[in-house]
Amino acid sequence: MKNSCMLVLSMMILATTLQAGDHSTKLTDSVNGKHLSILSGQSNSVMCPMVITDAANPRTRTDFNRSWTFARYGTMADGKVKPEPKGLEAIGFDDSSWRKLDLPHDWGIEGPFRKELPNRTGKLPWVGIGWYRKNFTLPASDAGKRVFLDIDGAMSHATVYVNGKKAGAWPYGYASFRIDMTDFVNFGKNNVAAVRLDNPEDSSRWYPGGGMYRNTWLVTTGPVNFPNGGVFVKTPKVTPEMAQVDVQYSLVKKGEMSGNALVEGKIYFIGNGGQEKPKLVETLNVGTIKLSKGQMPSQTVSGHVKNPQRWDLDTPNLYCVVNTVTVKGKVTDTLTSVFGIRTANFTADNGFLLNGKRVKIQGVCDHHDLGPLGAAFYARGMERKYEILREMGCNAIRTAHNMPAPELVALADRLGFLILDESFDCWNGHKTKNDYGTLFKEWHKADLQAFVRRDRNSPSVIMWCSGNEVGGIETSRTLSNIIRAEDPTRPVTVGCNYRKGGTDGFQKTVDVFGYNYKSHVYDKFHAANPEIPLYGSETASCYSSRGEYFFPVSRSKKKGAYRFQVNSYDYSAPYWGTNPETEFKHQDKNPFVAGEFVWTGFDYIGEPTPYNKDRTNLLNFTDKVQKEKMRILMEAMGGKAPSRSSYFGIIDLCGFKKDRFYLYQARWCPDLPMAHILPHWNWPERVGKVTPVHVYTSGDEAELFLNGKSLGRKKKGEFEYRLRWDDVLYQPGSLKVVAYKNGKPWAKEIVATTGKPATVTLTSDRSVIAADGYDLSFVTVRVCDEKGSVVPRTHNMISFKLDGPGEIIAVGNGNSASHEPFQANHHKVFNGLALVVIKSTAGSKGVIRLTATANGLAGDGLEIKAE
Ligand code: GAL
Repeated sequence: MKNSCMLVLSMMILATTLQAGDHSTKLTDSVNGKHLSILSGQSNSVMCPMVITDAANPRTRTDFNRSWTFARYGTMADGKVKPEPKGLEAIGFDDSSWRKLDLPHDWGIEGPFRKELPNRTGKLPWVGIGWYRKNFTLPASDAGKRVFLDIDGAMSHATVYVNGKKAGAWPYGYASFRIDMTDFVNFGKNNVAAVRLDNPEDSSRWYPGGGMYRNTWLVTTGPVNFPNGGVFVKTPKVTPEMAQVDVQYSLVKKGEMSGNALVEGKIYFIGNGGQEKPKLVETLNVGTIKLSKGQMPSQTVSGHVKNPQRWDLDTPNLYCVVNTVTVKGKVTDTLTSVFGIRTANFTADNGFLLNGKRVKIQGVCDHHDLGPLGAAFYARGMERKYEILREMGCNAIRTAHNMPAPELVALADRLGFLILDESFDCWNGHKTKNDYGTLFKEWHKADLQAFVRRDRNSPSVIMWCSGNEVGGIETSRTLSNIIRAEDPTRPVTVGCNYRKGGTDGFQKTVDVFGYNYKSHVYDKFHAANPEIPLYGSETASCYSSRGEYFFPVSRSKKKGAYRFQVNSYDYSAPYWGTNPETEFKHQDKNPFVAGEFVWTGFDYIGEPTPYNKDRTNLLNFTDKVQKEKMRILMEAMGGKAPSRSSYFGIIDLCGFKKDRFYLYQARWCPDLPMAHILPHWNWPERVGKVTPVHVYTSGDEAELFLNGKSLGRKKKGEFEYRLRWDDVLYQPGSLKVVAYKNGKPWAKEIVATTGKPATVTLTSDRSVIAADGYDLSFVTVRVCDEKGSVVPRTHNMISFKLDGPGEIIAVGNGNSASHEPFQANHHKVFNGLALVVIKSTAGSKGVIRLTATANGLAGDGLEIKAE
């Protein structure tokens, strides 16, 4: 691990390249002398589509996100019901009064928050029916081609109409699916696509969002073509000298074509993160597939790559195969498939091995929303998540509990993260009345197949997860087998929350076993199943609010929840969870465990445990005093807790680090000299009172000073992961910690009492963004004192004004109990911080100016270039 923590900077440089618009590289194919243009890094698609734009290539893949109209029916944002008229899909339907918008779009995140809506789905109005319509033309010269609409995800129960007729449907809101529009479109004329979505109430345990929230693509190919996922690249033998590459081709055909289809593949090395000029390294033998009616058998062609450059976390080297299918001398499709060469194995005794070396999984579970952006997927929003996680030393994401946006996986391929790719939160049974349980029987196979085929070339994907906290030995076996049939190269797992699942036979239905919150029985599991690899599929579930501290500090996990916030001393957890350190201890005692996926990396919308359900909130409180306080508070609120987003995150909903970030960084980046002090030091009401000071450090020892006076040097004991000075009497001034490692000075940190709030300051994560209508700049808003230090416990309202070719698409502050809208030009800071997210305008270059003003504070402004 030389390792992720050190790579933050280089990754950020790469990240900028990924987003910087179209990069075309002219390639000369030395075999037949044709010029190939390889397009990579298309904005908002880090999929590395690399389409050969040779004139002979019939495949096009075009962004289909722009210029939709939208209307809502059924349950509306205010809770009223608007009847849904018939005929909204008709070609001639007049949608001129509908709202015009571009995708990605999440209608739920537009709000408003309504206190009567359930906490666990974020108190946002995502339930209801949404209609989208779009006009598009296809050139007359495309006649004879196949025309597809690829939808990366639509929430939910999508029915797609083309020119008034139903062309297809796919209900699961997290699935990527393809609609074949060929038989419904007119070439050389206008066409209308209409999509109806329907989100039933009580269909999710967290905030699902609503709408066409991921990318959509218009794809055209020749009549014989590669379906999505139709090229499967495997590397069954890898040595330092040579990698065997097996490319398995599947084709689909429509129409009367007969004879043979010839499939060809050329392998290019595209470098670290897929950013280098492609270099041809192997031309595969030509394969033959006999064209027939119905399913045609797949054909595997093998080749070799000499001295393969491994995909690894530090050097995510990538290759691609440019695949071509030719029928009767005519190219009918080409498709580029990105892959990596690496070995990945789970072992029962030695954890997870990447390229033969042990890599401890330092992972987090991640829900699909992007905080104040809601479910609307922006590649840059996800990339920012990766940047923040990497700084913490995180190397893996579990896509809890559904298939992610395809770009999440593509980014992991390019940035060097491991993905535990997950499909379902429930099987036959229900967790909520209208959840996936209603679809499972009919859809699980199609959903799983499409999912695995989509992601199985990605080197970042190390394991498939077929479910979370589900039961049923037979069902589990069936799902594992469906997955194995699509991908025999990777193990299958389930996140299991019942202890007996490790001994009752359930554990044998998967290849690698994941326990949710059962670190205390890791040793027992291993003793009972010495041959089954084990990891923590969900761990900790510690909860806290950024910048909130409550006294006296208790080390009991039952305590720490006050006034709809949770103490940031990082001890609090629900009855099924633990603090992070309990998990660390069990991981350290049981080194055979492959690692952990913490619940969660980022706060997410919904599930604000311990304030997650109005009716049962009190059940979350097992401590009597806490329970009584909570009862009084709830009564005062008319029985409703305002909380609408989680407290589980190591990082808050806006991407701001909580104290816990440094606890994980100290563990996951042992070579990074760091020390972090908590709490802040602005406690005028606590002068002379006991105010515990805790330190997270990658050192093993530290000395704390208050106003220059030593409060003692402390050393971590066995299975101790923080240093504590629990009897500090508060005096304003400064706290300084000097950390040591192996007896030598290692890191320092100072936290000081600040002056009064004096200014608002703005800082952007990127001052140059692409003028493509997708790229984002995340601006941090801080309330500071005269000296520029963030003032804790400030909640000032800040107003924003934006000029130039961009827009404010979201604001937020990480307060899980706030009902301020996410779409506005003003927002309060929460404990000193707020976030503004700016999006560029498609095709408009220029300077975007953001200004911030607040009563009684000096304002600030900044510029972002869109180019
Ligand atoms: C787990 C569950 C997660 C989340 C978590 C909160 O049991 O799998 O989805 O609800 O609890 O602690």
